[in-house]
Amino acid sequence: MTTAAYLSIILAAGQGTRMNSRHPKVMHKIAGLPMIGHVLGAVEKAKCNRVAVVVGPDMDELSSYVKSCNESAGIHLQEERLGTGHAVLAARKDLANNPDKVVVLYGDTPFVKPSTITAMLDVLDGGAEVVVLGFEPENPGRYGRLILKNDQLVAIREAKDASLDELEIPLCNAGIMAFSGRNALSLLDAIDNKNVQKEFYLTDLPEIATRRGLSVRSILADEQDVMGINSRIELANAESIFQSRYRKKVMQNGVTLQAPDTVYFSHDTQISSDVTIEPHVYFGPDVSVHSNAVIRAFSHIEGALISEFAVIGPYARLRPGTNIGEHAKVGNFSEIKKSKIGAGAKVNHLSYIGDADIGAGANIGAGTITCNYDGFGKFKTRIGKNAFVGSNSSLVAPIQIGDGAFVGSGSVITKDIPQDALAVARGKQSNIKGWASSFRAKYKKETGL
Ligand code: UD1
Ligand code: MG
Repeated sequence: MTTAAYLSIILAAGQGTRMNSRHPKVMHKIAGLPMIGHVLGAVEKAKCNRVAVVVGPDMDELSSYVKSCNESAGIHLQEERLGTGHAVLAARKDLANNPDKVVVLYGDTPFVKPSTITAMLDVLDGGAEVVVLGFEPENPGRYGRLILKNDQLVAIREAKDASLDELEIPLCNAGIMAFSGRNALSLLDAIDNKNVQKEFYLTDLPEIATRRGLSVRSILADEQDVMGINSRIELANAESIFQSRYRKKVMQNGVTLQAPDTVYFSHDTQISSDVTIEPHVYFGPDVSVHSNAVIRAFSHIEGALISEFAVIGPYARLRPGTNIGEHAKVGNFSEIKKSKIGAGAKVNHLSYIGDADIGAGANIGAGTITCNYDGFGKFKTRIGKNAFVGSNSSLVAPIQIGDGAFVGSGSVITKDIPQDALAVARGKQSNIKGWASSFRAKYKKETGL
C-alpha cells in the first residue's frame, strides 16, 4: 500500500458529442450518481492526497458538483478541447506543486477500483516511471492499443491512427495512467498533435518516456472495471453492469431477491440481511432497509428508512423523509412523504400521508388523505398512538389527533381531536321509507317501460 503524496487528475472536459446532451458527459448518472461521482469515490478510497478535475467551458454544473463532493478539489478549466494530453496540462498548477506521483483518470470511465489505482502506484514504487492500465475488451473497436516489447510498454496507438496490424492487438488502453511527479511536466510538454485527429494525446506519453530510456509498464484490469462511456447506449450498458453487480452483492450479504433482474438499486442503497425484496422494486437515493423487512412487488422507494419486520407494498411509494417503524405496514397505492410511521402502525390502502407523525399501533383506513398543503405552506398532521382513522377521511393540517381517538369514516377533520374521543364530520344519513319503490312505479307509468 502506497502512502507517499500523490495527485489525481480527472479529465472531464470532453463534450461527449455522442451523448446528444446539454449536460457535461460525466454528469450523466449511473445508479443515481454522476459518472464523475463514481471516479471521485474511487480516488478517495485509494487515499489520494489531492484531486484536480479538468472541466470545459460552460460546465458550472460539473464544477459545483465536484465541489459538493470534495470542497478542496482543484478545478481547472481547459478552454479548448484539444485532446487528453492538453487536458492534463490544464492542471499545470497542481502538477508544478511537485507531487510524488500523478494518476490521470478519465471522468467517463466510472468503475475503476481503488485497489487498481493502488496497484498502479505500487508499480511506480517498484521503479517504473509510467504505468498504464490495460485490458482486453471483447470488442477492441475504438480503444487505443498497447504496443509491448518484452515487459515494456513502448507505445499506445489510438485506433484512428493504427495500422491494420496494430488494430489486431487485443490489449487496449483503459484510460488510466500513473507516472512519477518528477518528469511529469517535461514529458507532458513534449506531446504534440501530429495525428489523424490533430489532438494532443495523453497516450503519446509512454512512447516519449520510452525514447528517453524511462521504464514504462502496464498492468491488466477487467473489462467491466474500465469500460469508457461515450454514448447513451454505453451508459445503459454501464447501468446494467452496475445493477447486476449490486444485486449479486446484496444477495451475498443475505438478502433474498425473488427476481433480481427486475430490482433497481441506487449507488448507496443499504439493505441488511434477511430482507426479502419481491419483483419490480425501484430504489432511489438514500434508502436503508433493516433486517426482516419485506419489500413487496412494484414499490418505488427513495429517501426512506425502513425498520425491522416492516412490510412495504405491493405498489407502495415512499418519498424522501420517510421513516417506517418496526413491524409497520404500508400497503398498496399508499404514498408516504416526510412522515414517521410508528411501530406496528398500518397504512394499508390508497392513502396519501405527507408531513405526518403517526403514533405506534395507529390504523389509517383506506383512502385517508393528509391535506398538508394550502397552495402556499406545508402543515403537519399528528396522529396519536393506537388512533383509528376510518376510511376515506381527509385530515386538514395543521391537525392533531389524540392517542386512541377514532375518526368516523368519510370525515373531513379540521379541528384537533382529544385523546380517546370519536370525531364524525360528515352529512347525517336519513332513510326515507318506500321512496325507491314509489320512484320506480312513477317512472314505469310515465315511460311505459
Ligand atoms: C481515450 C484514450 C484511448 C482509450 C479510451 C478508454 C486518448 C487519446 N485516448 O479515448 O486510448 O482506449 O480513452 O476509454 O486519451 N477529455 C478532456 N479534454 C479533451 C479530450 C478529452 O477533458 O480535450 C476527457 C473526456 O471528458 C473524457 C476523457 O478525457 O472523460 C477521455 O476522452 P474521450 O474523448 O472519451 O477519449 P476516447 O476517445 O474514449
Ligand atoms: Mg471515452
